[in-house]
Amino acid sequence: MRVTAAVLYDTKKPVVVEDVELLEPGPGEVLVRWKANGVCHSDLHVITGDYPHPLPVVLGHEAAGVIEKVGPGVVTVTPGDHVCSSYIPSCGKCWYCIGGQPTMCALRDKPRWFMLDGTPRFRKDGRGLHHFLQVSGYATHSVLPEESVIPIRKDAPLEVVCLVSCGVLAGAGPVFNRAKVPLGASVAVWGCGGVGLNTIQAARLVGAAKIIAVDTVKQKLAWAEEFGATHVVDASAEDPVARVQALSGRGGVDFAFEVVGTQKTIEQALNATHRGGTCVVVGVSPAGTRVSVDPGMLLQQRVLTGSSFGAGHQRTDVPMLIDLYMSGKYKLDELISRRLPLTELNHAFDLMVRGEVKRSVIVYD
Ligand code: CU
Repeated sequence: MRVTAAVLYDTKKPVVVEDVELLEPGPGEVLVRWKANGVCHSDLHVITGDYPHPLPVVLGHEAAGVIEKVGPGVVTVTPGDHVCSSYIPSCGKCWYCIGGQPTMCALRDKPRWFMLDGTPRFRKDGRGLHHFLQVSGYATHSVLPEESVIPIRKDAPLEVVCLVSCGVLAGAGPVFNRAKVPLGASVAVWGCGGVGLNTIQAARLVGAAKIIAVDTVKQKLAWAEEFGATHVVDASAEDPVARVQALSGRGGVDFAFEVVGTQKTIEQALNATHRGGTCVVVGVSPAGTRVSVDPGMLLQQRVLTGSSFGAGHQRTDVPMLIDLYMSGKYKLDELISRRLPLTELNHAFDLMVRGEVKRSVIVYD
């Protein structure tokens, strides 16, 4: 079938929105008609070349839509089902999935730019186009492995809950799954964009007493307060480590979340924890990034760890966050600054780079 997709042919060049061919779903695969896809920094990392990826590629990994067709052997979804994309698949059968760590699923070891049989479903002029994280949500339709879609309730607005498919779960999950932040804890969050605002919001939901937001952009600090920050620190105006330590009242916070993805901010976040504290890295750093850690910090029982797609169980965490949103307990509408058609995807990336939006969503008719 002919579908419209945004294709990246070269790094540092605009994506090209054009008609491409999409092959039928094979065994164990599903055809999804996307309703919406959120605009995320991870896509941009591929465009800038910070995250090397085979080209050409149809990007997009924060999508929600409706199952249009299923290939032979698919059992977990049927046509008409509403789904969120799962940029980390979970097979439910491997050592990791059975052991309770489905975000570490063994399917991650396979090339993520093809279907599981090692071939693409997108074609242009007879040439295959790569998929992105087996999702490719910057297209009106795509084919995914069954393991890469998560069924969700049908009364949730797809153009809103698509955000849960990456930024929301990636930001909120580390709070309740990885750090398991307890009632009354002190938390600091480096980076208050479309992901970090979810870390702040989740910390508020679990009852953190102090939620200190750190950013260099004043607008983002104002957003942080709307989403639950109790204190804000402008890292462009003062040393954020010293300020967070002072605000904590204990020489450092219980939990620091790094939602930027740079050497400097990871080191700052770790250094802002007190003895025995925990630093969770959520931000995606450009390939080749390294951090410097004073081993003395670790001898004082600090924990430096990270989180993939919420570090929990994506198949239950995504519906759970949607339930919280639908019952009015989780802000999603407020995360969406702009709704744009696919033809304005390049503009949407510009808006994100300029820090002018919490999240933009590409919406399909
Ligand atoms: Cu993302």
